[in-house]
Amino acid sequence: MPEQTKDRVLALLEAHRGTYISGAQIAASLAVSRNAVWKAINALRQGGYRIDAVTNQGYCLAAENDVLSVQGILPLLGENSRGYADLLRLLDAPDSTNRAAKELALAGAPHGTVLLADSQSNGHGRFTRSFFSPRGGLYMSVILHPERLHFAHITAVTAFAAVAVCEAIEAVTGEETEIKWVNDILIGGKKVCGILTEAVTDFESGSLGWIVLGIGINVQAKQADFPNELREAAASVGANAPANGLRNRLAAEIIDRVLGWTEPPQEAELFRRYRKRLRMLGEQVTVVQGETSYPARAVGLDDAGHLIVENADGVQQILTSGEVRRR
Ligand code: BTN
Repeated sequence: MPEQTKDRVLALLEAHRGTYISGAQIAASLAVSRNAVWKAINALRQGGYRIDAVTNQGYCLAAENDVLSVQGILPLLGENSRGYADLLRLLDAPDSTNRAAKELALAGAPHGTVLLADSQSNGHGRFTRSFFSPRGGLYMSVILHPERLHFAHITAVTAFAAVAVCEAIEAVTGEETEIKWVNDILIGGKKVCGILTEAVTDFESGSLGWIVLGIGINVQAKQADFPNELREAAASVGANAPANGLRNRLAAEIIDRVLGWTEPPQEAELFRRYRKRLRMLGEQVTVVQGETSYPARAVGLDDAGHLIVENADGVQQILTSGEVRRR
């Protein structure tokens, strides 16, 4: 059976999520035989999809399906990001979607290329740390060409991405999110998402060639599934939400915001939305910069997204990068 038939059957089932569509209807709309439809349904079932079948009604994707797929994301994309539909790809267990995206960017991949994965064998985070990426999460990298971005979003790409992800989570699960500077997303005080923005430089011109925006989200993982060292500090999106296409819905909401924001928030508005979720303000923190660390109090965020901290002598410092931990 050509791979394509399976994908096209899946696309139809996704487009009819929640309702039954008969084998005959599927066969007619795809111009394939009933037997080919039946084989495709079996192949999808083997691939992890639960597909209900009822005599005289046909097939229906069961609500508990949460298989990440391009076919599941496409019908959910808003009008403004639909133009990027052909640039959406699902990778099969890559080492890292960011690494793959950087390679594609260098090979000329267009603005709006999105790589998605259900797991990563060597996901990485900030400060060359590894990023725990088991199956069932949502790992994605978006290639952005700076000249195609709203100006405020180039200068504040980290805040832009954090706001987009928070708002996407809130829209899909209704969970309240917080931001731990710079761009960890928390639910209930625990990290559910990490964002790694990497710049790929065009060596010919020496200018910033592309931005690779990497987003890793823990989705409905059990606490016991996290390694010991993460268990206390990590949590998942949608812990109590129905599985029903959750990752596809999250991916579509994120893509809509990153690529298709109808009225891109202006810088001041963007930082208002970032600040609203920023925790730690007023709290005692430890500032970690490379090998050194010192105690301080987080007192504010400037209009470029830099954290303002104050040491015990009342001296303020503006942090442009680094890490801040709660004491
Ligand atoms: C962090 O928490 O330090 C940032 C984590 C970023 C993880 C994402 S998952 C998708 C993309 N691919 C990677 O290897 N990293 C980013």
